[in-house]
Amino acid sequence: MLSEKVFIPTGYTHTADKGSFEWSAPSNIALVKYWGKKENQIPANPSVSFTLNNCKTITKLAFEKKDNSQNFSFDLFFEGQPKESFRPKIEKFLERIVIYLPFLKEYHFTIDTQNTFPHSSGIASSASGMAALAMNFMSLERLLNPEMTDDYFYKKASFLARLGSGSACRSVKGNIVVWGEHNDFSESSNLYGITFPYMIHENFTNYQDTILLVDKGEKQVSSTVGHDLMHGHPFAQQRFAQAHDNLSKIKEALINGDTTTFIAVVESEALTLHAMMMTSMPYFILMKPNTLEIINKIWTYRAATGIPVCFTLDAGANVHVLYPENAKDKVLEFIKNELVAFCQNSQYICDIIGTGATKY
Ligand code: DP6
Repeated sequence: MLSEKVFIPTGYTHTADKGSFEWSAPSNIALVKYWGKKENQIPANPSVSFTLNNCKTITKLAFEKKDNSQNFSFDLFFEGQPKESFRPKIEKFLERIVIYLPFLKEYHFTIDTQNTFPHSSGIASSASGMAALAMNFMSLERLLNPEMTDDYFYKKASFLARLGSGSACRSVKGNIVVWGEHNDFSESSNLYGITFPYMIHENFTNYQDTILLVDKGEKQVSSTVGHDLMHGHPFAQQRFAQAHDNLSKIKEALINGDTTTFIAVVESEALTLHAMMMTSMPYFILMKPNTLEIINKIWTYRAATGIPVCFTLDAGANVHVLYPENAKDKVLEFIKNELVAFCQNSQYICDIIGTGATKY
């Protein structure tokens, strides 16, 4: 297994004065959840996610060599407007990664970023945002070291993205990404995400994710605080062991096309994540009444039709509705007729499993 040290460059063969890159990176939705971490963004348990396709961040990075290399220097734009409120997060990210990208203080950067999904939709933009930025920095590093292999490029991009936001390391590649050491995945690492290394059954090809926007308000408790509350949590050890177990189960289900096991694991993971929040001290609830209404409707519909549609949740009230491509027409009909009423301003976003970050 690789150690952090391989990501510390020993020198560069080329120079670059000025230029720009542009990358997009998608959001991802965890099937087995990352909840709880150790120092330096090391996950307490392994996780696996579907990479999304439509919900993404597009980031342009312009760079120009400067005279003094004492400090970081950057301008930040979100949807064309200066965005000072993002600055501390980016500053912290740069501080964490500068040992792996020692040229960062030598440039002035202009970071121009936008999301394809509505802002304040409650969709986490930190995963796609940090991944898009990491891709751009890797493009710059590749300019300074053109010999770099693709394998190193993508591993290090995921490694850097992780230091920005844990789940961001799963937004570099598609279609299914595993992050965190696990016995069934010999190449798996706590440091970066890897593409699910087995053949995925056709039942999961083009899997659909319709995101129901239940509550677009600011979360009362951030993920960072939630992760922290897993330290000293009375159920933490059982939870981490369960995640290992669930990853083994879902691995088999993805290979064998076993939608029944897939559903059981995915829904249990979603509810367990929220159960951890409810049993933390202090405790908190991110689901809303409409989250539960939707879950019950999905269960009733599944029991009545036999269509393998299920839900998952991230750290918020929104519901991700997951279903196979061949059930698309029926499930969308169901969503429009029965679920949209529970969404804020009737808003939902249709997405599909995707391939990862893209260079423009
Ligand atoms: C519930 O990756 O947002 O979405 O590492 O502190 O930035 P930080 O946390 P973050 O946590 C995501 C938690 C989750 C589950 C998951 O995506 O696996």
